[in-house]
Amino acid sequence: MTKLANKVAVITGGTTGIGLATAKLFDAEGASLVLTGRDAAAIESARRELPRADVLAADQSSLADVDRLVEHVRARHGRVDVLFVNAGIAKFRPFEAVDERFFDELVGVNLKGAFFTVQRFAPILRDGASVVLNTSVAGVRGPANATIYALSKAGLRSLARTLSTELAPRGIRVNAISPGPIETPIFGKTGADADVIAVMKQSMSDAVPMKRLGTADEVARATLFLASTDSSFVLGSELAVDGGLTQL
Ligand SMILES: NC(=O)c1ccc[n+]([C@@H]2O[C@H](COP(=O)([O-])OP(=O)(O)OC[C@H]3O[C@@H](n4cnc5c(N)ncnc54)[C@H](OP(=O)(O)O)[C@@H]3O)[C@@H](O)[C@H]2O)c1
Repeated sequence: MTKLANKVAVITGGTTGIGLATAKLFDAEGASLVLTGRDAAAIESARRELPRADVLAADQSSLADVDRLVEHVRARHGRVDVLFVNAGIAKFRPFEAVDERFFDELVGVNLKGAFFTVQRFAPILRDGASVVLNTSVAGVRGPANATIYALSKAGLRSLARTLSTELAPRGIRVNAISPGPIETPIFGKTGADADVIAVMKQSMSDAVPMKRLGTADEVARATLFLASTDSSFVLGSELAVDGGLTQL
């Protein structure tokens, strides 16, 4: 038995990294998929890897794009059973160097975009649907140079609780998945030089009790748990997939 047979699953930021790994797993579990991303080459590559998936260009920080996406899904599928709000960006600066543009970009994608994605999808979420928000260990820790990234993720964690309260009358569960450092293309998109990224990854591995980075597939499998009825009594929670970083 597949866990997502006859389910419509939307994954924002489904073209690379954790979103793509989750899309592959959901596809194998029988879901009909709608994926989003911005980069044209990544969109094409995801289409080749998942020929059955509907892969769309949409900027989740743009309400116009979110509305267009919802309309597309409504017209094509009529409803959503699983919404994985995964699109996110990571950029790091000392707090003195944060300007309004930097603040707005991070919060715009990671928090505002996530909020309005759930709000605008809510009318077509099936009663009993599962919403999973991709937070981060940064939301409950104090990593250096991460004031804005961490606050965006802490806000998202809060939304898993408050949106659960709002949507529980319809049997819709909202939970969060909280990855530790995971090997994905996100590091290359931070704007940092390759040698700085290598040092960053090494120090992250050293900090993890399991002494390694996680894989996108490890996050995907935990996301499948929250997305499926295997987690039917789990509501408003945050599941850490972090090699023990926030637990030991
Ligand atoms: N990797 C980690 O160590 C780690 C740890 C904790 C949490 N996370 C979270 O996991 C999520 C996925 O990250 P990842 O590591 O898998 O990184 P990734 O490989 O860079 O994937 C991010 C995905 O989101 C998309 N995306 C980014 N901004 C978007 C926007 N405004 N609109 C639509 N799509 C957008 C990207 O596509 P485009 O590039 O085309 O925009 C890509 O598909 C993020 O929310 C991240 O904060 C990651």
